[in-house]
Amino acid sequence: MTDTYAVIGNPITHSKSPLIHAEFSKQTGQDICYKTILAPLNGFVTATEVFRQNGGKGMNVTVPFKVEAYKISNQLTEQAIAAQAVNTLVFDNDKIYGDNTDGTGLIRDIVDNLGFAITAKRVLLCGAGGAARGIMLPLLKQEPRMLVISNRTVQKAHRLRQQFSSYKNIVSSNYAEISGKEFDLIINATSASLIGKALSLPLGIFSTESLAYDIMYGNRNTPFLQFARQEGATHLSDGIGMLVEQAAESFFIWRGVRPKTKPLIEMLSQKIKHLE
Ligand code: ATR
Repeated sequence: MTDTYAVIGNPITHSKSPLIHAEFSKQTGQDICYKTILAPLNGFVTATEVFRQNGGKGMNVTVPFKVEAYKISNQLTEQAIAAQAVNTLVFDNDKIYGDNTDGTGLIRDIVDNLGFAITAKRVLLCGAGGAARGIMLPLLKQEPRMLVISNRTVQKAHRLRQQFSSYKNIVSSNYAEISGKEFDLIINATSASLIGKALSLPLGIFSTESLAYDIMYGNRNTPFLQFARQEGATHLSDGIGMLVEQAAESFFIWRGVRPKTKPLIEMLSQKIKHLE
């Protein structure tokens, strides 16, 4: 029998998850159907319950419902607890399992696809909102030499550092305070790229060997990546690979089968190139 999954969000029409999971199911021969659910802003719990009662097996959860998904889960993984947000739900009779695959997706893309080892590197994480929190634990597990969390509102960076205070190599600051420091990996986890805004980053924080990674996808020329290029960074990436990898991780959680991601990353990157 075909098992049904869905992505739920608001808005949702832009979501690439149905396309990605359709490709994964074709590639692996898994018999699944993957739908899109547009839930009203105050209707996440009801929409999820209806889907579950109708036999839905699992869901991907996107903006703005990841925290609500965290709250309705009655069993959470370590990543979901650290992120305080859930992007993958599994329904098993009365149980709702909540996981978060965003951080794992990012690490897979950086380490496996881009071939960039994070261990012992100097990492700068720009942003201290939900997206930044979601990638903190998987990043720290790679054992970077140091992790600097930098944010426009510095108090939020401090709070995020305190949440992970068992790790001793984390520093929190505003953007001005990182002046004079150079990083091997700089991740933009702010929402500034979504509105075409640049961050007020100081000059000299990139080297030619640095990797600049913008978790936003669909635009390989964000102000952040433009700035990195001007500053001499030659390794640049948008978040397409992270998007596909987090989906692959959800697929694995649901089906126990790991799909190949490279063909899909290439296909989506080509599509974006045509749109630019
Ligand atoms: P998300 O869940 O996408 O992370 P969020 O929790 O609203 O969304 O956090 C947005 C992040 O982007 C924050 O780090 C925010 O900085 P502030 O905490 O100072 O608001 C950052 N951000 C958004 N627009 C920005 C801009 N124009 N310049 C710098 N940082 C920006």
